[in-house]
Amino acid sequence: MNRLMKKTYSIGLIPGDGTGPEVTREAVKVLGAASQKFGFQLDYTPYDFGGDRYLKTGETLPDSALEEFRKHSALYLGAIGHPGVKPGILECGILLKTRFVLDQYINLRPVKLYRKEDCPLKDKEPKDVDFVVIRENTGGIYTGVGGAVQKGTNLEVATQVMVYSRPVVDRCMKFAYEYTRRRNRKKMLTLVHKCNVLTHCGDLWVRAHKEMGDRDYPDVKQDYNHVDACTMWFVKQPEWYDVIVTENLFGDIITDLAAIVQGGLGVAAGGNINPEGVSMFECMGGSAPKYTGKNVINPIAAIAAGGMMLDTLGETEAAAAVDKAVTTALTGGKIQSLAAGRMGLGTAQVGDLIAGLV
Ligand code: IPM
Ligand code: MN
Repeated sequence: MNRLMKKTYSIGLIPGDGTGPEVTREAVKVLGAASQKFGFQLDYTPYDFGGDRYLKTGETLPDSALEEFRKHSALYLGAIGHPGVKPGILECGILLKTRFVLDQYINLRPVKLYRKEDCPLKDKEPKDVDFVVIRENTGGIYTGVGGAVQKGTNLEVATQVMVYSRPVVDRCMKFAYEYTRRRNRKKMLTLVHKCNVLTHCGDLWVRAHKEMGDRDYPDVKQDYNHVDACTMWFVKQPEWYDVIVTENLFGDIITDLAAIVQGGLGVAAGGNINPEGVSMFECMGGSAPKYTGKNVINPIAAIAAGGMMLDTLGETEAAAAVDKAVTTALTGGKIQSLAAGRMGLGTAQVGDLIAGLV
């Protein structure tokens, strides 16, 4: 194809801290193979936001960067978190700020077990662990509504409120129903909440789920779990699930449980999605300082996040090819374990292997 005719996407690349740059490099490698094969182009603009920059300049993410972010087709994040920076500063200043300002109101977390031996659950195989969690990503307790009074005294009071409006619930619910329909498996959307106790917020989500489902998605089955029960069912019967929709904090918690069920952070990828705007893709593992620069970290989650990015950009065939390459690499016998340092191959070699299979 004529190079000038190639579809081009502008990607903001934030490798970040620790092992972030190493896994980002492998994702870029695999995305390069996919873009060549499927005839599109990815133009990267690198950004050095993260712990090192913060320690040097005191800056996490300036507003001018957020304005630049808006102009990209998508953003790709390696990892943030630095042993020299107090917890919360980089998380709130970079990750949460981007989610909020770019209104990435969906956190999309596919949960897929590639190999039986990576699952900590007895007798579960790949066919049993294959579902998607859609976590509301900008509301709830994460909004930070509340505060502390008489701080430091023995009468200190602190509140942090779960805040949801009907439109914020509805837009998440709409994404979830559409996703469930498109995924076309069991066509079942499970709402996870705690409506037996959270009689205001829970009730809002329950009604939004039922009313939208009854009205617009009669072909999608409606299902409900309390969040505490859901954690039990993830372990006992993960095969029950197709698509889950849930509020922000519950989603944060259950997706970590889901990550270990699918084999751990080495393979857990996610997207912070604004369906009408700019989305950001990331692997769920942190910056893993102790493995930094050793070529031992597992890049598969980062590669899978890259695949999700292609899917969201509309390059669905290329996305499917990346997913297939990951599956083939993982079932081909060369990757011994998903754990850092125990893969039997180095970070770059896993990237080479997968890039060669795209
Ligand atoms: C996640 C992370 C973040 C969250 C942290 C790093 C702020 O745990 O993406 O799940 O709580 O959302
Ligand atoms: Mn989390």
